[in-house]
Amino acid sequence: MNESRAVERIKELKQAILEHNNNYYVLNAPKISDFEYDLLVQELEGIERKFPHLATEDSPTKHVGSDLAGTATAFQRVRHKVPMLSLSNTYDKQELADFHNRILKNASVQEDDIAYVSELKLDGTAICLSYAHGRLTRALTRGDGTYGDDVTANVLRISSIPSQLPPSDRLPVPYPEQFEIRGEIVMPYPRFEELNKAKEEADEPPFANPRNAAAGTLKLLSADEVQRRGLECYVYHLVTDTEGVQTQWQALEAASQWGFLVSPHRKLCKNIEEIEAFLEYWDRERHNLPVATDGVVIKVNAFALHKQLGMTAKSPRWATAYKFKAEQAATRLLSVDFQVGRTGAVTPVANLEPVLLSGTTVRRASLHNADQIALHDIRLEDTVFIEKGGEIIPKVVGVDLSLRPPHTMPFEYITRCPECNTLLEKEPEEAKHFCPNTRGCPPQIKGRIAHFMSRKAMNILGGQALIEQLYNNDLATNPAHLYGLTPEKLEVLENWGPKSTENLLRSIEASKSVPFSRVLYALGIPFVGETTAGQLAAHFGSLQSLQTATYEALIEAPDVGEKIAISVARFFQDPANTLWVQTLQEAGLQFEQRQTERQHLSQALEDKRFVISGTFSRPRDEIKQTILSHGGKVLAAISAQTDYFLAGNKTGPAKMKKATQLGIRIIDENEFLELL
Ligand code: IVH
Repeated sequence: MNESRAVERIKELKQAILEHNNNYYVLNAPKISDFEYDLLVQELEGIERKFPHLATEDSPTKHVGSDLAGTATAFQRVRHKVPMLSLSNTYDKQELADFHNRILKNASVQEDDIAYVSELKLDGTAICLSYAHGRLTRALTRGDGTYGDDVTANVLRISSIPSQLPPSDRLPVPYPEQFEIRGEIVMPYPRFEELNKAKEEADEPPFANPRNAAAGTLKLLSADEVQRRGLECYVYHLVTDTEGVQTQWQALEAASQWGFLVSPHRKLCKNIEEIEAFLEYWDRERHNLPVATDGVVIKVNAFALHKQLGMTAKSPRWATAYKFKAEQAATRLLSVDFQVGRTGAVTPVANLEPVLLSGTTVRRASLHNADQIALHDIRLEDTVFIEKGGEIIPKVVGVDLSLRPPHTMPFEYITRCPECNTLLEKEPEEAKHFCPNTRGCPPQIKGRIAHFMSRKAMNILGGQALIEQLYNNDLATNPAHLYGLTPEKLEVLENWGPKSTENLLRSIEASKSVPFSRVLYALGIPFVGETTAGQLAAHFGSLQSLQTATYEALIEAPDVGEKIAISVARFFQDPANTLWVQTLQEAGLQFEQRQTERQHLSQALEDKRFVISGTFSRPRDEIKQTILSHGGKVLAAISAQTDYFLAGNKTGPAKMKKATQLGIRIIDENEFLELL
């Protein structure tokens, strides 16, 4: 790598790492696995080692990620007495031996005398607890390592965190008058599953994993909700020195006697072999634990050695984390296919040399998009790592550069649609390329018909094979054509008898009574999913008023943001769309919300503008209806025009912050009822 390439690559990596930091720490919604993230950081570290003068002070290799969003949050920001550092980490047992050798070299200890404590690395969110005279006085999140958010009110509701310790003089090892102790707040799997089930029922996006759920919960504004969610806290690090505690092992024992929850899964190890045995055991056994773990932390036992070894800017030299890998396999990338979806979005898919991964043979894996391919510099003939995430199709997460054959070239992304040869386009803020040939591109046409017929939309019987045949025989090139089908026209279909015709036509007929909200969803307007369609239908009442709504009117509808408003307006501006929608209307589909008389109860909230967020004791929709029926308005997003921000449980800190900044009155459900 020459210097100019290094400059360019450092810029790319920094940008990617910062973005992933934000996804992980602030949004609690990571887009890549820890392993993929660590690969990016390692690559950056590697380049910075090679070109030290290019390593700037602000490099993400020198700082821990931050969970602090922006400058003001609903929580008070407090400086940590002792910075909260991160840990160096490795996925490689050889690097553990390096860690061990470095310690022998840099500390005054003989190989025979060294001892390590191996602990589980619980996968949650870090917390720093301060006690004075045995009483919990403050709880801070890690934040950016220097400043944390004060979440004491929430932490007091976590049952495994003692708010009052037993009297010190009755304990075998007394605790200091003032001390700090740190640990990990986790959400056990059973609580996590309950929470996600409830989210699904409330039509809210689920948390990707227990870590995000724990971190998200800790920053809720309702302590009651925090309590309901059943978080737990395992402590692992006593920050304050005290007599009688000279080693990590003693610290954990003492903490346990003081009333803290300490993971029982720990081992005092005399050498690398014992550490490895612990790693291997827990790599298998962790699947049987009730909480998520992502590795093992190995710490030098004697505090005297901690002092000798000291810290780097980011992490202590006396500890390291060995991280478990998600199940991965390495295989060769043979070719890349490009799939075009209903909305025209293009997804690159890798064709691989078949390889066994967690019990199934994998031949294909997602490559996400052009940026991801470029970021990892994935090339044809490379040996790539694949990993199974939450999705059914595995994904390519990186390249084994040591196995790259000579003379490979950077991957050239396609510029034209593989299905219709139209020049692809890419919006700067979108990750994927898309084919703009909405009317003529076959997978887009077939995809729209399939979506229209799907169960949650018009629920018309018939699978992909029927759609292919209708399209190939020119019987349906848009969903409206379904309503012009006759037994005669259907005769041309292969493997198709009178019974099939009867069933299909009957189900098409039945679809005419599908309610307006589902018809609206069936139209397949980009970004209008089931929930949004329901809201638009309720708000506008009919296709007529939706179709003629201005952008300003659209954006006022509940939960409609800029992206959706633009998309809806654009859809109805296209004469081709209005034409086939008109055909649907003529066919007799429901284009009006059935009259569920919206009573006007009072004008108590006349012209008051509300933004609602979070969950309440009753469905959100009911609250909206209450506001409307008392003359109020419900807006999608907080702006200077908002009069009240009605914040329920689980309201995110970003929204609270925005409301606070704009000086909007924030009320909870009780205050809302009082207002009425
Ligand atoms: S020790 C200076 N021990 O892992 C001491 N950390 O990547 C640093 N973690 O921020 C922490 N289990 O949130 C330590 N047994 C354990 C841990 C643990 C989980 C987390 C902690 C830390 C992160 C480092």
